[in-house]
Amino acid sequence: MSVFNASRLAGKTVLLTGASAGIGAATAVLFAKGGSNVILAARRVEALKKVAEACATAHKESGLQQGGKFAIVQLDVSDKSQVASLLDRIPQDLREVDILVNNAGFVLGVDRVGDIADTDVEAMFNTNVFGLISVTQLLVKDFKARNTGHIINIGSVAGREPYPGGSIYCATKHAVRAFSGALLRELVDTKIRVTEIQPGMVETEFSVVRFRGDKEKAEKVYDGIQPLTAEDIAEEIVWAASRPPHVNLAEVFVMPVNQATPTLAFRGGK
Ligand SMILES: NC(=O)c1ccc[n+]([C@@H]2O[C@H](COP(=O)([O-])OP(=O)(O)OC[C@H]3O[C@@H](n4cnc5c(N)ncnc54)[C@H](OP(=O)(O)O)[C@@H]3O)[C@@H](O)[C@H]2O)c1
Repeated sequence: MSVFNASRLAGKTVLLTGASAGIGAATAVLFAKGGSNVILAARRVEALKKVAEACATAHKESGLQQGGKFAIVQLDVSDKSQVASLLDRIPQDLREVDILVNNAGFVLGVDRVGDIADTDVEAMFNTNVFGLISVTQLLVKDFKARNTGHIINIGSVAGREPYPGGSIYCATKHAVRAFSGALLRELVDTKIRVTEIQPGMVETEFSVVRFRGDKEKAEKVYDGIQPLTAEDIAEEIVWAASRPPHVNLAEVFVMPVNQATPTLAFRGGK
């Protein structure tokens, strides 16, 4: 008997934003392994195609009969018209979504208040907050109509505790936390589950995006400490999704063992 029973994932359909890299890509593969169908959404279609291939391989290797359908949808969650047409662009047989993972998000820069470009403020809010809200509003209508579904939002330790140089990103993730908490309370009389995953440091393209492509600066973020991997977070997401229907993992706060807060980390060597 396996300790981790993933049989509840078999045949489920997952809509995953930000599926082209990092946590999203790893989560797609793990759901595929568990026998789910996955709708992979992000802006970079070529990268999504590679993730879809990895999903197909993982599903094949699992030997599971259920699931195994992987659709690619180009989606910029910050573009309202793209979100509005999202359901129409999903293949007919995958339109009944069981699990929504709102993962798309990013941080730009480490500028202090007063020096932050308006365009950076808008970009972070448009994706991390308004995009997440738009996609949720779209899907929750159908979840309510069917009285089922699971919304998994990717928050952050930055949504629990702000830090210098992260004011806007922290504000967006605090918004994700507030939105997730309100939604959880609104849906208390339904069978719909709401989970917020709050990771600490995860080594993905996240820091490369933060430092606008400067890989050297990005690598320094993980100096002397073993960060979480995208796969670590994928496991938490899939774990939450595979609990029995009466169990809701409302919050999952997950940190590297040597990181306690956004700014307190022990860098004694990996
Ligand atoms: N890495 C960390 O330390 C960490 C810690 C806590 C929380 N998080 C959160 O985890 C989530 C995933 O980040 P990650 O670490 O996996 O970073 P990543 O490797 O940079 O991946 C980010 C993903 O989001 C997608 N994305 C960005 N903007 C988008 C938009 N407007 N519309 C659709 N997709 C968009 C990207 O795809 P395209 O570029 O193809 O659109 C990419 O697939 C984010 O919400 C992030 O805030 C990360």
